[in-house]
Amino acid sequence: MRSIKVNLEKKYSSSYEIRIGNGIIDRIALLVAKNHKADKYAIITDDNVARLHGKNFLAVLKNIGLNADMIDFPAGEASKNIGTILDISDKLLKLGADRTTCLIALGGGVAGDMTGFIASVYMRGVPYVQIPTSLVAQVDSAIGGKTAIDLPAGKNLLGTFNQPSEVFADLNFLNTLPAKEFENGLAEIIKYGIIDDEKMFILLEDNMDAVKQKDPVMMLKIVENCCRIKKAIIEIDEREQGLRRILNYGHTLGHALEAVSDYKLSHGEGVALGMIAAARISAKKNYLDAQEATRIEEIIRLANLPTKIPGFLPAGEIINRLQMDKKKKGDTIHFVLLKKIGMPFINGGVANDIIGEVIEEMKL
Ligand SMILES: NC(=O)c1ccc[n+]([C@@H]2O[C@H](COP(=O)([O-])OP(=O)(O)OC[C@H]3O[C@@H](n4cnc5c(N)ncnc54)[C@H](O)[C@@H]3O)[C@@H](O)[C@H]2O)c1
Repeated sequence: MRSIKVNLEKKYSSSYEIRIGNGIIDRIALLVAKNHKADKYAIITDDNVARLHGKNFLAVLKNIGLNADMIDFPAGEASKNIGTILDISDKLLKLGADRTTCLIALGGGVAGDMTGFIASVYMRGVPYVQIPTSLVAQVDSAIGGKTAIDLPAGKNLLGTFNQPSEVFADLNFLNTLPAKEFENGLAEIIKYGIIDDEKMFILLEDNMDAVKQKDPVMMLKIVENCCRIKKAIIEIDEREQGLRRILNYGHTLGHALEAVSDYKLSHGEGVALGMIAAARISAKKNYLDAQEATRIEEIIRLANLPTKIPGFLPAGEIINRLQMDKKKKGDTIHFVLLKKIGMPFINGGVANDIIGEVIEEMKL
């Protein structure tokens, strides 16, 4: 089992460990019991993960003598709202959960974001650990303490910063993950290579087949690498006041594409297209060598993620959507651009005509 420490300054939060391994569920249970002593444990998960892994994990916790229960909610982003939070809180009360209870987020980013949110407010705050089961959650959402729920007006509009007490990623969970969900995670992994680590980018270029086959040795190496990159960024900028924004590489346009497609494009597909577009914009503005932009497009193709924007998405609407986000976020769209693979920077404004040109070039 690999261990990575997230060193926080105690300004806002305490430091914690991320542990990663293959087939480590029994070790995780023992470490939860040892490091997070509590009278009661409540696993919070979605109904898919409850069926595939939750029941088994609950049994493991009970077998070692812990007083544990499980609460589940319908899987999917549509559950990430205040109604589900109230429902889970009600169930926690009925189970007798109090301020000494330890919550366990078991699942993808939805379970993680919601459990972290409840842990911030339930009885003025209870501890929680993250056990991410999707690739997105293992390399991204379980680390860093951003918690959130959605409002009808948009995603992640209610939330807190609330770091978990520990993160445990068992790569065995990935064996049951649907291909589309794996690809969503792959887009984030490629992003880490682009923004921080050319060596990992090359590793991915050379080993994409092994990654797609979820080769355990390769996955361990890559997930560990991504966690190290994210933890280093969080240590510098826990509350997203600056550097942490580079994690949004490909996401500005990606979100707009997802929304304009009425969410027919998945998050990973939107981000993949957004990453290609950001590289092309960087090349057009002469920050980035055009060959590097081609490498980015090629690795996305190797990952089976899309490289072309579906023809039915009008450039005008995509740009309008970007403008809407701009208004919401206080008049600047922080486009993350590149000088090299591994060398991003934040650019305060890209002219609409350049964005429009790139969208047209990328149309199917
Ligand atoms: N907090 C952060 O920093 C952060 C970062 C990135 C994304 N997010 C949030 O995370 C969410 C996306 O995360 P996600 O992609 O994990 O979504 P998700 O939690 O909805 O999981 C995706 C699907 O995979 C299923 N699943 C999860 N693990 C599985 C497994 N091992 N086997 C089979 N099925 C499994 C789930 O049931 C669900 O149907 C979004 O709400 C996003 O806003 C948060």
